[in-house]
Amino acid sequence: MNKKELNPIANELNEIIENENKAVYEMLSNFGKRMFFPKGILKQSKEVSIKNPKLKATLGMAVNDGDLLTYDYASELSGSCKKKEADSFKISRGDIYSYEQVSGRKELIDVWTKKIHQDNPELTTNISTPIPVTGITHGLFVFSDLFIEEEDQIVMPELIWGNYNLIFKERRGAEYSSYPFFDNNQFNINGFETALVRAIENANNNRKNKVIILLNFPNNPTGYSPKPSMIREIRDVIYKLANKTNIVIVCDDAYFGLFFDEKQTEEKRQSPFTAFANLHRNILAIKLDGATKEELSWGLRVGFMTLGIKDGSDLLYNALNEKIKGSVRSSISSGSKIGQSLLLEILSHKDHKKEKIEKIALLKGRALKVQKILENKKYDEVWTAYPFNSGYFMTLKLKGINAPELWKELLENNDVGVIFLDKEHIRVAFSSIDKRNLDELFEIIYRVAKKMKK
Ligand SMILES: Cc1ncc(COP(=O)(O)O)c(C=O)c1O
Repeated sequence: MNKKELNPIANELNEIIENENKAVYEMLSNFGKRMFFPKGILKQSKEVSIKNPKLKATLGMAVNDGDLLTYDYASELSGSCKKKEADSFKISRGDIYSYEQVSGRKELIDVWTKKIHQDNPELTTNISTPIPVTGITHGLFVFSDLFIEEEDQIVMPELIWGNYNLIFKERRGAEYSSYPFFDNNQFNINGFETALVRAIENANNNRKNKVIILLNFPNNPTGYSPKPSMIREIRDVIYKLANKTNIVIVCDDAYFGLFFDEKQTEEKRQSPFTAFANLHRNILAIKLDGATKEELSWGLRVGFMTLGIKDGSDLLYNALNEKIKGSVRSSISSGSKIGQSLLLEILSHKDHKKEKIEKIALLKGRALKVQKILENKKYDEVWTAYPFNSGYFMTLKLKGINAPELWKELLENNDVGVIFLDKEHIRVAFSSIDKRNLDELFEIIYRVAKKMKK
């Protein structure tokens, strides 16, 4: 195996294993030799957790007043909740401990299907029945099982959720055709088109018959979502090119619904899936969504995978769903019963709608506060803040300051935990910082960055 092709962390691990016991190294498969645990978000978050700073803006969960921001009624499974009298869910033994079918709990699938249609009223054509997966990550895994071959081209922005690399590149050997996410503080539609044209050329040169596009709005790490008019522009660009090759569009809707800039009078955002599910017989749209971020249920590990294509018949969708189920069966056997049962309780509760509005309003309050803080011109010296209007995060592009060094200094000497994405980007999770602490958080980051710049 060519060491140059491997990630440096994988090479480091292989060297240790080989030095300790050469036989064990030789036992590893090529994939085993390629695998590693990235020094990305999880590793940094772990170090932040150990240090436990006062201001922890790292992990993609929502926290309020030192407690997880879940639905109040769902805070405790067995009785009283700190905040108010909580209902305890009454879940039968069978709905906790028995196996669930690979196709998932029927009542939950019905509720989720209804939710997809309510959130996306323009979705009027036939789509597949959602299949549950073990978190959106597993949905990405199943998608890549079924649709990615080595050297397949994936069009995606430069700023992405890091785990895509492990799933698409390291597991399956896909290649990216990337584009800068922003142009003039908007989604970079021209860059997107250029990247798509390049991917199609590469695919045709390699005798591939498809390209893949990944759309993640709200985006992790920037917290940006384009307006519906921009989704239509993206749709038109893709449609124009669909006669050149087949196109698979994956919509990672992890943070769907957490939009903070929508006015009552404005057109509401829908999933990009809506724009592609009935566009062209060469364009397959895949929607990956789930309870994790949207329903404040990170550990339940319940996601869903839904398909849409022009003229998609039940026969086609059922055949594809059998393949999805085969991938699920051969990777995790079946999903978590308790996760699905709890999610069903959460979504069916009488206070669900009311509390969801409250929780989104709380996150929105923080996002608007951060936007206000960042208006201060003094920050121009040390960073540019990318636009953000949704989700859990925002990202700072540093000016002449090394992001990993800033990260270290903030954590070791300033009681602040953030995430560095690369050498110049810092991600701040406002989802986990109380509104009252936001001024202090940015002031500290600014002060330390300014000192380092000198
Ligand atoms: C963009 C994006 N997609 C998917 C996921 C993973 O979701 P899950 O925890 O449901 O696997 C995350 C989690 O951080 C994410 O940010």
